[in-house]
Amino acid sequence: MTLDLDAKKVLLRKIPHGLFICGVRDGEEMNGFTASWVTQGSFDPPLIVMAVRAEGSSHGIIQRTKCFSLNVLRSDQKDLAAVFFKPQSALGGRFESAPFHKGELGLPILDNAIGGVECQLVGEVANGDHTIFVAEVMTAELIEDKEPLVLSTTGWSYGG
Ligand SMILES: Cc1cc2nc3c(=O)[nH]c(=O)nc-3n(C[C@H](O)[C@H](O)[C@H](O)COP(=O)(O)O)c2cc1C
Repeated sequence: MTLDLDAKKVLLRKIPHGLFICGVRDGEEMNGFTASWVTQGSFDPPLIVMAVRAEGSSHGIIQRTKCFSLNVLRSDQKDLAAVFFKPQSALGGRFESAPFHKGELGLPILDNAIGGVECQLVGEVANGDHTIFVAEVMTAELIEDKEPLVLSTTGWSYGG
């Protein structure tokens, strides 16, 4: 059996994705990064499934603290999504471009986005260069119900 890599790339890039800012917190240390490999996993309890790059700084924090926030960006926030995937001078430095407050679980919720949820980890699958985290949505804060930013409108790709 041989995998046709070109076909695989074209086909997997057809999977629609949103763009989110995942927030993490370890004590006083905060960090955030752009995530697109995110989907829902259950109605009851409400579960989120997110794949996180094993070599990224936030990966170990999620494993240690067992929680993260997910902020939903507006369609006009492409520049902010770019800030959160580019290298930063120090952990958490990306938040200088994006004011935030702490949610009920103490996780970063962007002040200026559609809103954010805070999630608690219920499981993980580590079998590749990303770990799949499954987490229950514990809090939800809606700031402004607008059109969300979606990957297909940005000209960027992640995966395939
Ligand atoms: C369009 C796009 C989508 C991305 N989606 C994800 C994702 O779903 N999961 C992930 O771990 N990294 C994703 N990244 C990469 C991270 O945003 C990037 O590696 C970031 O620097 C990680 O930050 P950290 O090391 O501070 O945690 C994406 C990057 C881009 C450009």
